[in-house]
Amino acid sequence: MTSEIIIVRGNNTLAGDVSVAGAKNSALKLMAASLLGQGVTTLHNVPLISDISLMGEVLKRLGATVERRGHDLVIDTQPVDSCETPYELVSKMRASISVLGPLIGRFGEAHVAMPGGCQIGARKIDMHLVGLEALGVEFSIDHGVLVARTPNGLVGTHVMLEFPSVGATENLLMAAVVADGATYLENAACEPEIEDLACMLNAMGARVSGAGTSHIEIQGVPLADLHPCEHTTVGDRIEAGTFLAGGALTGGPVTAHGINPAYLRMAIMKLRAMGCEVETGEDWVRVSRAGDLVCADIQTLPHPGFPTDLQAQFMLLAALAEGTSVITENVFENRFMFAAELMRMGADITIDDHHALIRGVAGLQGAPVSSTDLRAGAALVLAGIVADGETRVHRIEHIDRGYEDYVGKLASLGADVERVPDGSAR
Ligand code: UD1
Repeated sequence: MTSEIIIVRGNNTLAGDVSVAGAKNSALKLMAASLLGQGVTTLHNVPLISDISLMGEVLKRLGATVERRGHDLVIDTQPVDSCETPYELVSKMRASISVLGPLIGRFGEAHVAMPGGCQIGARKIDMHLVGLEALGVEFSIDHGVLVARTPNGLVGTHVMLEFPSVGATENLLMAAVVADGATYLENAACEPEIEDLACMLNAMGARVSGAGTSHIEIQGVPLADLHPCEHTTVGDRIEAGTFLAGGALTGGPVTAHGINPAYLRMAIMKLRAMGCEVETGEDWVRVSRAGDLVCADIQTLPHPGFPTDLQAQFMLLAALAEGTSVITENVFENRFMFAAELMRMGADITIDDHHALIRGVAGLQGAPVSSTDLRAGAALVLAGIVADGETRVHRIEHIDRGYEDYVGKLASLGADVERVPDGSAR
């Protein structure tokens, strides 16, 4: 396969309406959850992105059939007869680890290769394991494969997470729904995607309450009581936030549709603090800006704090804002790789451990840059839209992991942007 790059011609603005896809971070877990309802699950509003295809491969490897019908995904987990997920798939996407909970729930056993994924910090899975152990799972490592067994079945219990990890909360949720008795998850992650997962599990016959808060209560039910269901994936708040950052950057107005504004409260607060006007409706958010961008301090935190997945996009805003902003990354280590690329475009950023000091500059210059991860890639394309001259964004496979038709959507908002094969002369 020839790799592609994105070429962006700058000094441009974005304006108009854009519809966001279903949330990647939700759909991936909903797909994993389908393993618990033996039969045909239909998921609606599933984004057309490469991470979803990869999760489809993971499910197929387990024996499921997975069929794409536009934005619907039809998954038959009846034929699943394996509880083994191989390294070549798991190493490509950390989220593959989310089959661990449902596999344990369904088979009482799982063999999952240790995960890889975005190169943003250590990204351990110790909290997944500690929580599952409390439910009665015994783990061992066999040649790089994590082997889970439940000699005495899954038994409901109290679990206090050390940190509100999204992935650990989801894995625990998907195992605890079939545990014997009640499980109380404390310091659980509160992300909207967890609420979405709990909503689907309940539609399958599970008894989960409190999802979306830090205290989740799960009354276990027998596996046989869970059945497949139809579910619509929640809108992608990070995709929406990315387009809103684009609107803020260029003045807009940009309206993102298909998103509950409540899920973006902190990002909206920061957009206003940075000099933007933000209006909201039931399922849309509009941003515009007449004056200059103003500096703001931001720290990433678990939801409802500022999302780490919007950190790069807002660093870009800070780079062009009047004054000095401090961005503190509290969720992932090594998530400032984007700053180095932005500096190549003329940004003035100093990194000190997990703090970034960003002194606003008057403008950016187009340059060849490289996506270091999914969100950094999306932000670099936005940077190219306002930069002077042409920007070539390399390693765009990162962007394809999480944004459906990013280039098409930006073009519909007025960006001069295209994908071309890497190395093509222009
Ligand atoms: C999910 C999202 C990702 C988002 C992140 C935080 C998916 C597919 N990905 O990732 O886009 O940026 O939430 O909102 O949904 N940690 C441990 N031990 C553990 C688990 C986590 O140390 O057992 C650490 C991680 O290294 C990281 C932090 O906790 O530093 C947060 O991780 P977590 O909330 O679990 O994120 P993910 O579920 O991996």
